[in-house]
Amino acid sequence: MSVDTSVAPVATEPVISSLPGLTDEFKAHLKTPLHIGNVVIASRVLQSPLSGVTDKVFRRLVRRYAPQSMLYTEMVSAAELRHLQRLPEVMDIDPDERPISIQLFDRRPDFLAEAARKAVDQGADTIDINMGCPVNKITKNGGGSSLLREPDTAVKIVEAVCAAVEVPVTVKTRIGWSDDAINAVEFARLIEAAGAQMLTLHGRTRAQGYHGAARWEWIAKVKAVLKIPVIANGDIFSVDAALSCLLKTQADGIMCSRGTLGYPYLVGEIDHFLKTGQRLSPPSTVDRLQCAREHLIMLSDYKGARGIRQARKHMAWYAKDFAGAAELRDQLYQVESVAQGCQLLDDAITKLQEQ
Ligand SMILES: Cc1cc2nc3c(=O)[nH]c(=O)nc-3n(C[C@H](O)[C@H](O)[C@H](O)COP(=O)(O)O)c2cc1C
Repeated sequence: MSVDTSVAPVATEPVISSLPGLTDEFKAHLKTPLHIGNVVIASRVLQSPLSGVTDKVFRRLVRRYAPQSMLYTEMVSAAELRHLQRLPEVMDIDPDERPISIQLFDRRPDFLAEAARKAVDQGADTIDINMGCPVNKITKNGGGSSLLREPDTAVKIVEAVCAAVEVPVTVKTRIGWSDDAINAVEFARLIEAAGAQMLTLHGRTRAQGYHGAARWEWIAKVKAVLKIPVIANGDIFSVDAALSCLLKTQADGIMCSRGTLGYPYLVGEIDHFLKTGQRLSPPSTVDRLQCAREHLIMLSDYKGARGIRQARKHMAWYAKDFAGAAELRDQLYQVESVAQGCQLLDDAITKLQEQ
C-alpha cells in the first residue's frame, strides 16, 4: 500500500463568502468547545496521528501555532508494548503537550486494555483506537482497518478499553473495507453503542488507500445518526477545504493529516479562522525553510543520528513551490549532518532573500 505524500491532492477551493450554509448559527457552533466525553477541547481542529511523523518534535511545532487543539501520538502497538521494559519513544509526551491522545492498535481487547492503562499513566487525555490503518503488515494481523470486517471484535475492543480506563475512548476508522463493503453507518452505530466517546472518520475505503477523493458524503451520513462527536478526515489541505468539508458533513470538527506535512501551521490556521473569521497570512517560503532548519535541529537533539535521517523527508516537505525546490529536495534527502542540512537551507534562504 503506497502512501503518496509527495503531492498534495487538490482540494475543492470554494470562495468562502459564496458558501451556502455558512450561517451565523453554524459559525457560532464552530466556535464552541468540543466535548469528548468529560474532556473539553477549546478547538474543533485536530492534528491526526501520522506514523513516522507526529513525534514529540513535530507536535511541538504544531502546538506552537495551535495551542488549544487536540494532538495525537503516532500509533502504538499494544502487542509490542507488552514485551517492552520501558515505554517506547512513540509514547513519549511532554506535560505541556495536552490536550493529547495516545493512539493504539491491535485486535486483542485485553492487549489494548492493558496498553490503554499505560497510556493513561503516561498522561493521555483520551485513548484512540486505530481501526483505519490500511497497511498490510497491520491488517494481516487483524488490526487497523481489518476491524471494519470484524465489527464484533471492534465492539469487544471498545468495551474492554472503556472498562479499563477512566478517560474517554475514541475510534478512528474509514468508511469501509472496499466499495462493495461500505459499512460506515452500521459500524459507527456499533462503536457508539459500545461506549466510544468520539469517532473520527476518514472518508476513504481501505481499498482506496490514500488515492481518489475523500468521500465526505459518507461522513455526513454517519454524522446524521450518531450522538457522539464525529470528526471529518480526508483531503483537508486548506482553510477553504476545511469549511467546505464542515458544511458538507456538518461534522463536529475536522482532522488535518497530509496537509500538515512540511506545514505545521495548518491546524492553527483553520482553528484561527473558525474562531475569528480572519485568515492568518500564510508563512513565506523563507519562514518555511527556517522552520525546516529548526525541525532538523530539534530532531537531531532528540534522536541523534536517527533524527537526522528522519529529518530528511520533513525538510523535503517544507521545500516546495519555489524555483530550485526540486533540486534542493534531492540534496536534503542526502543530508548526513545538522551542519550540512543547515548550510543547504541557509543558502536557499539567502538566494530567496536576494530575489
Ligand atoms: C505518513 C502517514 C502516516 C499515517 N499514520 C497514521 C497513524 O499512525 N494512525 C492513523 O490513524 N492514521 C494514520 N494515517 C492516516 C491519516 O491520519 C489520515 O487519516 C489520512 O491521511 C487521510 O487524511 P488526508 O487525506 O488529509 O491525508 C497516516 C497517513 C499518512 C500519510
